[in-house]
Amino acid sequence: MDIKETADQVITQTYARYPLALVKGEGCTLYDDRGREYTDFIAGIAVCNLGHAHPKLVEVVAEQAGTLWHVSNLFYTQPQAELAEWLTSRSFADRVFFANSGAESNEAAIKLARKYFQDQDQPQRHRVVSMQQSFHGRTMATLSATGQEKVRKGFDPILDGFDFVPFNDIEDLSCTVGPSTCAVMLEPIQGEGGVVFPDPEYLSQVRKLCDETGCLLIFDEVQTGVGRTGKLFAHEHFEVTPDIMTLAKALGNGIPIGAMLATEKVAAAFTPGAHATTFGGSPLVTAVALKVLQILDEEGIVDRSAEMGDYLTARLAGLKEKHSAIEAVRGKGLMVGVQLAGPGADVVTACMERGYLINCIQDKVLRLAPPLVISREEIDGLIRCLDEVLELETVTI
Ligand SMILES: Cc1ncc(COP(=O)(O)O)c(C=O)c1O
Repeated sequence: MDIKETADQVITQTYARYPLALVKGEGCTLYDDRGREYTDFIAGIAVCNLGHAHPKLVEVVAEQAGTLWHVSNLFYTQPQAELAEWLTSRSFADRVFFANSGAESNEAAIKLARKYFQDQDQPQRHRVVSMQQSFHGRTMATLSATGQEKVRKGFDPILDGFDFVPFNDIEDLSCTVGPSTCAVMLEPIQGEGGVVFPDPEYLSQVRKLCDETGCLLIFDEVQTGVGRTGKLFAHEHFEVTPDIMTLAKALGNGIPIGAMLATEKVAAAFTPGAHATTFGGSPLVTAVALKVLQILDEEGIVDRSAEMGDYLTARLAGLKEKHSAIEAVRGKGLMVGVQLAGPGADVVTACMERGYLINCIQDKVLRLAPPLVISREEIDGLIRCLDEVLELETVTI
């Protein structure tokens, strides 16, 4: 079977895929159906933090698969309780709602923020303020909360109740938050928007504004969470805590799981029957996610993300000195963006031909999000590859 030909005929054409069919992964290496090897600097879009086929994860999947997969939330299960206990003990949060994806976790966050105020007889407080260039998902509510026209195009009418402000502009936010606002929702570091960092004081100013106006603060840490930025959660860099936080992506290292975490005060609005999902927090996925988090601790992966991130960013800064096509390098931990002077598509293709998988967002930003277990040697390999590729006459930037 020709994998690409078959897929192109029978799968909806929503994804512009790279022309590779991947069949196997080990650590930071992926193999295609022709037996070619690639070093993975995408990690399934910031998901496979522990790399591919981590032996302890392979073991826990097999063990849990042979024990109990799914019973629904009509019943209690130990992996779910243990995972929630781990997450609440290591964060500002008191309670967790388990979902199946980033978008679903954000749906839960938006619903919780509205319900919190409706329970207090303040139904007028239902609007969410989010950021231009943000990305929160593709369901109707989360695309309505997403500040990118290309994500919303074609799906009118977009849901009512969302306002947008420029990221890093506290004045604009102060003018927009009003008596009808229930929450401000943002990514502490914007991912899909181009790896964009908050100004040093911005998040604490947002927190202060929320406190003064009584609205909730939601941090979408779907991409930044679980060690990606060199801290367990990105908001720790800025010493600001939200009322609600969402996670997904790396939480299961590729097993689909999402989570919405909240303080007791806010989570109390989620009473029996208020929100639900059949699959959310099944024993199979929660056993894997719990092991993912335990491995982060056992193998010192979060510190490693910070260390390797510094190394990668420094090496890229060296390349910037040499290649005028690189305008800026932005990074925290292993969430790294390389701003190019022009389109990055050719660079991605040329890297792929040389055995390195990277991707490009917002047309001109190379996004590097390798597994957090990436080695110095693998980083050196990518740097040599980029150095060569940026010299090529065939690569148009
Ligand atoms: C910050 C952020 N929120 C939400 C999502 C949506 O997550 P999912 O694709 O799992 O629905 C993403 C996906 O890229 C994301 O980066």
